[in-house]
Amino acid sequence: MAPFGRHLAFGADPRTQMRVSWQVPFAVRHPFVRVGLKPWDLSRRIPAEERPLHTPPLGKDLPAVDQLFLHAALDNLAPGQTYYYGVGHDGFDPADTRHFGTIGTFTTAPTRPETFVFTAFGDQGVSYQALANDQLILGQNPAFHLHAGDICYADDSGAGKPTDVYDARVWDQFLAQTESVAASVPWMVTTGNHDMEAWYSPNGYGGQSARWAMPDNGFDARHAPGVYSFVYGNVGVVALDANDVSYEITANTGYSGGRQTRWLERRLRELRERPGIDFIVVFFHHCAYSTTKGHASDGGVRDAWVPLFEKYTVDLVINGHNHVYERTDAIRRGRVARRVPIGETVDSTRDGIVYVTAGGAGKSLYDFPVPDSYEGHVKNRESVASYYWRKGRAKVTETVEWSRVRYTGYSFLAVEAEPGPAAAAAGDDAGGERGADRPLRRRAGRGRARRGRPGSVTCDAAVVATVERALERGGGVHPVGVALRAVGGGTGGTAGPADGGFGHGSRLLCES
Ligand SMILES: [Fe+2]
Ligand SMILES: [Fe+2]
Repeated sequence: MAPFGRHLAFGADPRTQMRVSWQVPFAVRHPFVRVGLKPWDLSRRIPAEERPLHTPPLGKDLPAVDQLFLHAALDNLAPGQTYYYGVGHDGFDPADTRHFGTIGTFTTAPTRPETFVFTAFGDQGVSYQALANDQLILGQNPAFHLHAGDICYADDSGAGKPTDVYDARVWDQFLAQTESVAASVPWMVTTGNHDMEAWYSPNGYGGQSARWAMPDNGFDARHAPGVYSFVYGNVGVVALDANDVSYEITANTGYSGGRQTRWLERRLRELRERPGIDFIVVFFHHCAYSTTKGHASDGGVRDAWVPLFEKYTVDLVINGHNHVYERTDAIRRGRVARRVPIGETVDSTRDGIVYVTAGGAGKSLYDFPVPDSYEGHVKNRESVASYYWRKGRAKVTETVEWSRVRYTGYSFLAVEAEPGPAAAAAGDDAGGERGADRPLRRRAGRGRARRGRPGSVTCDAAVVATVERALERGGGVHPVGVALRAVGGGTGGTAGPADGGFGHGSRLLCES
């Protein structure tokens, strides 16, 4: 019997911690991971933790399902190092030459910020499009991948109720599908409405906790496994569980009693004060700003979190839930603060925040109420008639001007991040590499929300060629990529207005 469904995840410190997870079809003895610096020398052997998951028969034609997930925590790794690893148990040793084909690799985050790519999408499921999208992602050589929830749709209803239609075996399919990427790319998930599996635990995340091993630095790692953060290079990433604040799908609304939002504010403040971080990226499931006919915007997200994103000038927000690609203008207090055509540059401290919905990972697509508009097919409009969900599950119509890019197709977001010179000088927060003779970036006083960041975010058209080819080939049914590029501008680029006595060059240039 051989392991399957390998997937990696960073620990709270991506420089030194990796979690290796996998599945076996039946109980095994002494599961373990081997790791080493050469594929033929996997001398370090770490025992794995077993997390069994029992699902009762939940439908007339569905059997009881027992699944066994295994997780090994690798700590004290060297930063910026490629490791080889293999998973096994008594009777299956990856160091056996017959099993060399199962050996995988991963690379820890570097100590000093350097240019890297990460990818993101949500709403995947198991499908041809989902699998093909995975292969496109792998071709980007991402340092990690963000999955914004609605992961596999074993829960096909998505209401988060015990009466939801659910087949646990879909997870086996999903993890086998995902292994092609996640065996070498840390696959960082958060929770969508289809990931509330009510029969496992009071808030439905017992299954999530059994399958995944995300960083445990959220407000309650045990009961809210989709809430955590990590820093990779010059980018701070925050994962949130929007089921807690949704006004649309309310099974878990309010479950944290405000603890998640208080944690979010603390974490955003910490990240903003931490040397070497140019950008903050937040990802979660339900959209703050989208115009599809499917779910549109969730007022609960706007009420709970958007003020914090603006207070701490988050640079990029990534959502799923709406099965399309949509990108907004720079928004502040719900309105267009700066119009951001394709290829334009944005400074989040000056212009507001750009929100990306990247929910086209593989599930059936939604419709916009107006025609698509993307590079090569720009159809600008003054406004779009849409709606948002208000408390009490009421739909409130709104006419919005911020829907800048709309693409109805399978898609993902690729972000290229490049450190600004000051971030490179600052090195990591541990400070070990900090150059004494190199100036750190200047920072505003403690508690100031806006501060200069040497770096910029640019949205890039490079992957649009892929879009065109895919459209020609398959009429839009093939996965496509849309790239967003973050480039460290340092002192160059657009110098924003002085803020706290200094200028800054942080900007977002938009793509697609
Ligand atoms: Fe979805
Ligand atoms: Fe969803």
